[in-house]
Amino acid sequence: MERAVIQNLNNFVGKEISLKGWLTNKRSGKGLEFLIVRDGTGYVQCIVNEDDVNEKVFNIAKSLSQESSIEISGLVVKDERQVGGYEIQLDNLKLISEASAFPITNKPHGVEFLMDNRHLWLRSKRQWAIMRVRNRLIFAVHSFFQNEDFIQMDAPIFTGNAVEGTSTLFESKFYDETAYLSQSGQLYGEAMAMAMGKIYTFGPTFRAEKSKTRRHLSEFWMIEPEMAFFDNDMNMDLIEKFIKHIVKEVRDNCSFEFEILERDTKIFDKIIEDEFPRLTYDNAVGILKGDEKVDGKTTIETLENDLILVLEGIKDKSKEIEEAEKTIKGGVKKGKRNYLQNKIDTIKNEIKDLEERKRVIPQWVESAKKFKYGSDLGGSDETVLTRMFELPVMVYNWPHEIKAFYMKRDADSPEMAKGVDLLAPEGYGEIVGGGERETDLNLLIEKINEHKLPMKAFEWYLDLRRFGSVPHAGFGLGLERMVAWVCKLKHIRETIPFPRMYGRLFP
Ligand code: 4AD
Ligand code: MG
Repeated sequence: MERAVIQNLNNFVGKEISLKGWLTNKRSGKGLEFLIVRDGTGYVQCIVNEDDVNEKVFNIAKSLSQESSIEISGLVVKDERQVGGYEIQLDNLKLISEASAFPITNKPHGVEFLMDNRHLWLRSKRQWAIMRVRNRLIFAVHSFFQNEDFIQMDAPIFTGNAVEGTSTLFESKFYDETAYLSQSGQLYGEAMAMAMGKIYTFGPTFRAEKSKTRRHLSEFWMIEPEMAFFDNDMNMDLIEKFIKHIVKEVRDNCSFEFEILERDTKIFDKIIEDEFPRLTYDNAVGILKGDEKVDGKTTIETLENDLILVLEGIKDKSKEIEEAEKTIKGGVKKGKRNYLQNKIDTIKNEIKDLEERKRVIPQWVESAKKFKYGSDLGGSDETVLTRMFELPVMVYNWPHEIKAFYMKRDADSPEMAKGVDLLAPEGYGEIVGGGERETDLNLLIEKINEHKLPMKAFEWYLDLRRFGSVPHAGFGLGLERMVAWVCKLKHIRETIPFPRMYGRLFP
């Protein structure tokens, strides 16, 4: 008998196999037990028929607790209706370890409870799907850059200098010196690009963000390519090609995962095919404030229309609930009642989301109208702006005063810097930040002083401009923001196995 894993069951149809895994769910019928088993590669239903197995095996099956580890053997049959498309007719079952009462059941649980049990929550189906999408994205990142002849480099984690401002530094000790956990590998990436031409880092980065938001982690993974002899236009071309590649990879390889996540993947087709809009900061602000139109509409009109739809949605859904409740009151069978009760719960959650939109849309409109030219785009500004497009949007040429010290100033309009942000659609906002780097030694020194950074810590960085300085550019993609968007998750905490964020160090 061959040992199989669930994702390869297609090779074993009509054959006897053995398989090791965990019991994730179970139901009973007359003389039958239906076990849903997971083994890390997938899910499969095993049927235990009282007439086909010995009494001992049937009794084990009957009393098996959720998450017990087991070894089973049986016949693989094809069955399109079952999870994964196959079923196992079980003929033997061995208990490896019986699980105590598992804290995470099919009942709804609060998020804090799930987060406290993250080490166990990772076993549930949605989390399984998210981690597999994350894995595929990581694979796609490497395949993209390796095929483009980039050299992967590892930047240090202990660093002596800030990169992205001093307000989010985690301070640490490095023997007798003060060190900081890296906010970005970029400066080291620039040094390496001068040695190798094109490089990319892919490592953990740390930012002390003393607030709880749905898009900030204290520890996140960043992909940072850096290219010698690139200007910001070439940089933007690369960002677009890169995002198209990794989106295509997950679209083509993660359909089962997206099905579990109920993620409609139609939007990916357009992203892979169509050119991303590129707006200057000036254009973006014009659109945001409603002074410029997109497809004949202003942001204000679009959002006012959205609000009308939200209000109608709340009315329709409330009516649906009323009707379902009336049906239940009128008396229905248990099965139907459960079905309707579930439906009511789902609609209630949908209404909650709509109520939230009803609350925030007017606030978004207000703050968009009041946006002050020269300031940075806030989260809601990004949402409003990207609401006008179905594709990721690039915003480039930013006021230099709101960007990092290393950004290249635009010779034609010196108040601007050649930075670029990529904003994801569907309200996800900034997923990429990057730009061309300053090559003028004196301007760079001026900027380091302006930002009150310790010049001594940057002497090595300034050397890159002293010895064969060349135009160069790069960007950083936050992996977790990418996972959150492609999986359409409400919160970034589910995108990484063990999130580190304000107020969360365990497990
Ligand atoms: O825009 P940022 O700060 O850019 C840099 O760090 C540059 N040094 C990158 C470069 O040019 N090499 O960060 C880049 C990206 C953001 O767009 C976002 O996706 C992600 O990193 N990011 C975070 N993700 C999760 N939690 C946080 N606290 C994040 N801060 C930034
Ligand atoms: Mg940024």
